Amino acid sequence: MALNLIVLGPPGAGKGTQAERLARLRGIPKISTGDILREAVQAGTETGRQAKAIMSRGELVSDDVMIRMVQERLDRADALPGFVLDGFPRTVAQAAALDGIMRERDPLLVVDIEVPEAELVRRLSTRLVCGDCGANAAGGDTVCGRCKGQLVQRPDDSDGVVRERLTVYRRQSAPLVAYYRVRPTFRSINGAQPVDGVFDDLAAAVDALVAGIATPGARP
Ligand code: AP5
Repeated sequence: MALNLIVLGPPGAGKGTQAERLARLRGIPKISTGDILREAVQAGTETGRQAKAIMSRGELVSDDVMIRMVQERLDRADALPGFVLDGFPRTVAQAAALDGIMRERDPLLVVDIEVPEAELVRRLSTRLVCGDCGANAAGGDTVCGRCKGQLVQRPDDSDGVVRERLTVYRRQSAPLVAYYRVRPTFRSINGAQPVDGVFDDLAAAVDALVAGIATPGARP
């Protein structure tokens, strides 16, 4: 069975950190819509030019653009054995479209990472990323651990934009938890613990969900 996993959570919950680790462990792609958009911005494509201003305000790129982007990415051969989605869906309209895209595929598993807002603000306001490859820096790094690039603040991690991203999350993305919570393929985990502890809980939640799907009647 393909492992088709959505990692949900507010900005700074650790979606990217955990999605990357799980994807590497399982040998499937991590598909981050934030990363895809930042690559488009850097490449100067039409999508990137339009997304740049929206992202710098902390708002959401349109559902149409995002749904088309994810549909194309999920149709690529490397995503057929499974994927870890980070940053999508972000609205109920995106979630409904994803259900349509997944109709002929193995069930979606959904894990929500819960973190109190004060901790989200702390993480985002202190985060440094590589100005070249975009990777998050680890605490204490002076250059990028991946490519030795210079570390900078992510443009949307400034105080005002973080506040707007959290407001947008509460208004447009938090309803996704209610959308998915009613399914037997949903779990919440505590993201307010060290990275390794979150990962252990994520891996355990995924194992429990996969075991649940093997039980008749558990498919959504
Ligand atoms: P995106 O890049 O998805 O940003 P985000 O959701 O705000 O997520 P972040 O990357 O800030 O946080 P994260 O949860 O991945 O945490 P991370 O692991 O990095 O989207 C950016 C923008 O693109 C959006 O605002 C929007 O404009 C647009 N966009 C993207 N997808 C879209 C969509 N589907 N529809 C419309 N628009 C879309 O960790 C954060 C920090 O915390 C790091 O420094 C990390 O080292 C640290 N950290 C992680 N885990 C822990 C831990 N357990 N303890 C302590 N520190 C930790």
